[in-house]
Amino acid sequence: MSFDFDIIIERRGTDSLKWGRYRGRDIVPMWVADMDFRAPEPVIEALHRRVDHGVFGYAGPPAELKDVLITRMAQMYGWTIDPAWIVWLPGLVPALNVVCRAFGDEGDDVLTFTPAYPPFLAAPPLSHRTLKTVPLIRENERFTFDIERLEREISPRSRVLLLCSPYNPVGRRFDPDELRRAAELCLERNIVVCSDEIHCDLILDGHDHIPTASLSPEIAANTITLMAPSKTFNVPGLNCAFAVIPNDELRHRFKRTREGIVPFPNAMGYAACLAAYRDGEPWRAALIEYLRANKDLVHRVINDEIPGLTMDDVQATYLAWIDTRALNLPNPMRFFEEAGVGLSNGKDFQGPGYVRLNFGCPRQTLLEGLERMKSAVARL
Ligand SMILES: Cc1ncc(COP(=O)(O)O)c(C=O)c1O
Repeated sequence: MSFDFDIIIERRGTDSLKWGRYRGRDIVPMWVADMDFRAPEPVIEALHRRVDHGVFGYAGPPAELKDVLITRMAQMYGWTIDPAWIVWLPGLVPALNVVCRAFGDEGDDVLTFTPAYPPFLAAPPLSHRTLKTVPLIRENERFTFDIERLEREISPRSRVLLLCSPYNPVGRRFDPDELRRAAELCLERNIVVCSDEIHCDLILDGHDHIPTASLSPEIAANTITLMAPSKTFNVPGLNCAFAVIPNDELRHRFKRTREGIVPFPNAMGYAACLAAYRDGEPWRAALIEYLRANKDLVHRVINDEIPGLTMDDVQATYLAWIDTRALNLPNPMRFFEEAGVGLSNGKDFQGPGYVRLNFGCPRQTLLEGLERMKSAVARL
């Protein structure tokens, strides 16, 4: 089967968040994390079938979905899960907020590493918790957890660690030892780990994803894993995600906290999720190849052709975390926006001086964005 990711699909005028931000302006949007590709054909067909039925009552997960999910977890990550552990959700962001509220009391601490996906920074204060941030450190030209600093930030009021694996925005796929150190420290100190693994099927460096909870039964009992088909199969607008919570007590608290507030996924989301996980693998394999080539292109242009910009190798995700600090720009995001490229602002991630570039797009779009960045820096 062949897939053509080079096709440019017009997204202007489609109520796209990503493209709508720059309506009427000549700016290539490379910010929010969705891709400019059509979803896999089996997903589109499943949605058509659902629409053609014409009745849109309340929906539950398709009967087949649990088995598909369980088999997939076993095959892809060697992780055996029980169907009773799955909690369906309309998204990961609501789940991050539920986790913050589900454990401890108002004023207790929630820890996270920085730079961080902005909802990791917003969820604790929105939940009346105190955010404690631990900057990632750089070792051997890559970002990693600063476990000593994490240990220093832990207080008797620390309840939850929000962890991102693979890591948006720095693009790290963590080695089991890195994850184990963070997870074991949390276990020792009675801190629940919320492991956001939304990017787990977008590993570009040929390694396997390791779910944090799969590291040991003890870690599993202390971990809430969040996953979704949304990033991988480019269906984030369909709002279907799930948590895997092996520990009964944690699961009950999570469910109680979300009760009556967080909705279940809708019929379209479930249909897309089943089709993506059951029939989307050939598409995903081709996508990974395409993203890998895009990643190599971004890496080469940023590091070799634009003096003053640098980035690490992206091991996972379709997001490049670009260091602009050598250019001393007062507002890097604005600078590139004025040059016709819409990037995410590092400041929003607590990473000032950085911008995040989404390379989940046809190569021609990517080349145009990179060319504009190159010309803008050359004009400085
Ligand atoms: C780490 C991470 N978590 C969660 C989300 C969004 O999750 P959702 O759309 O399911 O709320 C994103 C989107 O970029 C993300 O990168």
